[in-house]
Amino acid sequence: MSKNPNQEIPKWKQDFPLEQKEATHVSRREFAKFLTLLSGALAVGSTAIVVKSLAFPDQPLVGEHPICLESDVPLGESYMFEIEGSKTIPYLLINLGEGEWRAFEQKCTHLSCAVKYRHDLGQIECPCHKGYFNPRTGDVIQGPPPRPLPQLEVVLRDGMVLVKAQQV
Ligand code: FES
Repeated sequence: MSKNPNQEIPKWKQDFPLEQKEATHVSRREFAKFLTLLSGALAVGSTAIVVKSLAFPDQPLVGEHPICLESDVPLGESYMFEIEGSKTIPYLLINLGEGEWRAFEQKCTHLSCAVKYRHDLGQIECPCHKGYFNPRTGDVIQGPPPRPLPQLEVVLRDGMVLVKAQQV
């Protein structure tokens, strides 16, 4: 009586008949196939982002938007906020003192890191590559950011802080 050769091989080995050496080996053809698929996926992803941004452009900010009470943000402090319906989120509200308030997009104009207000330096800092902005104008003081921070106009009314698109 002959013996079945598969009887002595464990079930898991029958399901995965590869040797470890073969399993870790990647041929040039497989690697090229992987690179081609990866490139294709990146191209499709990039195209989808472009199509989406063309089909659904960012709407300009319309009207005034209440943000908080003046008393919510002490002198020298900042407050992060979002505006419903705006794709540009979040924003940074800064109380500079003596009735001077500013609001900027919080995304650095270099590589979109979140900026923060440093009252001790009197500047807005981007911690990623040490970019610094003027907290009154949003202009670049130092570092790699190529453009000023986009700014909103701040309106103070009856103890409330409101923002609206800056008049050009
Ligand atoms: S991302 Fe802000 S300086 Fe680079």
